[in-house]
Amino acid sequence: MQAIEIKPDIFWVGAVDWSMRSFHGYSTDRGSTYNAYLILDEKVTLIDTVKAPFADDLVSRVSSVIDPAKIDYIISNHTEPDHSGSLPIMARCCPNATIITSSPQGLKGLTSRYGNLPYQAVKTGEELSLGKRTLKFIATPMLHWPDSMVTYCPEEKILFSNDAFGQHLASSNRFDDENDLPTVMKEAKKYYANILMLFGKQAQDALKALSAFDIETIAVGHGVLWRSHILDILASYEKWSEGEVDDHAVIVFDTMWGSTERIADVIADAFAEKGIPVSFFDLRSNHISDIMTEILTSKYLAVGSPTLNNQMMPSVAGFLCYLKGFQPKGRQAFAFGSYGWGGQSVGLVEDGLKDAGCEICLEKIRVTNVPTKEQLAAIRDQILSI
Ligand code: FEO
Repeated sequence: MQAIEIKPDIFWVGAVDWSMRSFHGYSTDRGSTYNAYLILDEKVTLIDTVKAPFADDLVSRVSSVIDPAKIDYIISNHTEPDHSGSLPIMARCCPNATIITSSPQGLKGLTSRYGNLPYQAVKTGEELSLGKRTLKFIATPMLHWPDSMVTYCPEEKILFSNDAFGQHLASSNRFDDENDLPTVMKEAKKYYANILMLFGKQAQDALKALSAFDIETIAVGHGVLWRSHILDILASYEKWSEGEVDDHAVIVFDTMWGSTERIADVIADAFAEKGIPVSFFDLRSNHISDIMTEILTSKYLAVGSPTLNNQMMPSVAGFLCYLKGFQPKGRQAFAFGSYGWGGQSVGLVEDGLKDAGCEICLEKIRVTNVPTKEQLAAIRDQILSI
């Protein structure tokens, strides 16, 4: 396998994972990449590694440029195994390399995963001279792990951003402008929603720290590199991390015999009547990570479930558990559903929405068995009144 030169003497040496369809539960319909970069300078430097099963790809691409034994530094921006998994193999292939990691969390994380390797821990603001080039390390704690950091090279105006600004997107092209931009932005949004959404404050802090740097290339840890649409992705991160939402409604439900779905239809129509666009997700056929992507920028959230054995449907419970993890503050939400007897589900859904940090903007909508025309008309009026 060949390295790809992205700037003179700087090479992409990562791996493309065309087949991956789930990243710990986040659906990755377009696969992903694990990006690593090789810098040839007086000190030869590898930035990040790849997921362990792809170690041969990394070694092969590095070897297409230089003997891996000549690597002096391996920068580990993040200890999660999709980036650090090949470190033990690279440590063997690169016996002269010092592994640079963040202090103290990176050092702690790598040591507990891989034992004692030749680590050097760096704090935010520290610099490392490679010869003609310098690397500056900036801690980005909880973006999205405690150890996370990014690395900036001022001479090349490259930010090696690891998870930040990434996308799970497998492509044979390495740059944003060589791919379909709406697809890249859609995957960047899905990535932010499902990996970073809980960490808006930390993302804001990172954006503030990075605003001091002149950046011409963002060399991400996943997906395609940004060089032509840097302002677009930075503006999107500003919006997403601030929690800025559009007048948009997300409707999520499961149904047993169609009554909860009928209510969902009327809610969708009523929002449309108000001029508010709707994303409509039946949990039987939609993945929670796609739903979260829409919730990221939507003001309204309606969640429906019939009652099953005194509970909400398990699919709805799973969705609410996932939502709670992201704490999407300020969404205007309400619960709806039908029931035969008992009817506990709608209250449980409302409790789940509150636990997820949503603001309840409408009284629970509960219907026995099958909604009548009058009940559906009343539901429409309720939505119009929001
Ligand atoms: Fe791409 Fe947090 O690992």
